[in-house]
Amino acid sequence: MHELTVRGLVLEAEDVLTVELAGTRLPAWTPGAHVDLVVGDGTVRQYSLCGTPDATSLTVAVRHEPAGRGGSDWVHRTLRPGDRVTVRAVRNHFALEDAGDYVLIAGGVGITPLLPMAERLAAGDRPWRLVCIGRSAARMPFRQRIEALGPHTTIHETAVDGRPAIDGLLDGTGLVYVCGPVTLIEAVRAALDARGQGERLRAEHFRAPDDAEAAEPGAFTLRLERSGLDLAVPAGRSALDVVIEAGVGVHRDCEEGICGSCETKVLAGAVDHRDHVLTARERAANSCMMLCVSRAAGPRLVLDL
Ligand code: FES
Repeated sequence: MHELTVRGLVLEAEDVLTVELAGTRLPAWTPGAHVDLVVGDGTVRQYSLCGTPDATSLTVAVRHEPAGRGGSDWVHRTLRPGDRVTVRAVRNHFALEDAGDYVLIAGGVGITPLLPMAERLAAGDRPWRLVCIGRSAARMPFRQRIEALGPHTTIHETAVDGRPAIDGLLDGTGLVYVCGPVTLIEAVRAALDARGQGERLRAEHFRAPDDAEAAEPGAFTLRLERSGLDLAVPAGRSALDVVIEAGVGVHRDCEEGICGSCETKVLAGAVDHRDHVLTARERAANSCMMLCVSRAAGPRLVLDL
């Protein structure tokens, strides 16, 4: 837990505010990381870090979504320089992995985790490129920092250029990092799958896809090995709710499978992974799950709780 002070607020682009947070003991982070920020009503929201890891402050960029869940509205309307805020944790489920080359694709404010990555890659010797896609230049944050990266970067204004052909962005054999709206991520996923290169994808969602809860889940049972409890998870309830109701402590923040807070070790049973945190390799390993959205692929799971 870190109590930090708002050092500065900058309107980075239309509706996008950067918030600079300072404190005496800042948590270390690497490109791709996000903070769990406690917002006005006491709930927690995840925002990607978009400054530089060796800076004396943490910076996040927040797009104002008046129809959202309230976190961005609180940041834009209430937060002022000098205010104290709480950062619960810094996590990174979107870290730069070793690869021969990199393609980074940002949709709108999805540039926030990718910009520190691009700046890190610019200091190295591996081939990389960054593609930023947005409706208009006015709505694209960090335009100067992006342009400072030079010829490795391409900016697509869809209002001017139309939508780019996704397949044309994917040449290479290394990793493809994409952050932005679900439609963009799914388009990249489909294009990579069509090439037979689905394992190249590394994606970070802003919000869970609308269909994340659409499939009606079946009932299953949970064995909590350390607690000695057997619990029934009915259709329509999350494993997380059932576990917490039974009095077993598990962290939870987003409850949408995007923050990683509720990650739990699986001892036995196959998992139907529905989160947006684990990589394809981690899913295949079947050794952990996000209790808030993922379910049993069979009748029973045994958890290390
Ligand atoms: S609470 Fe965020 S992934 Fe489960």
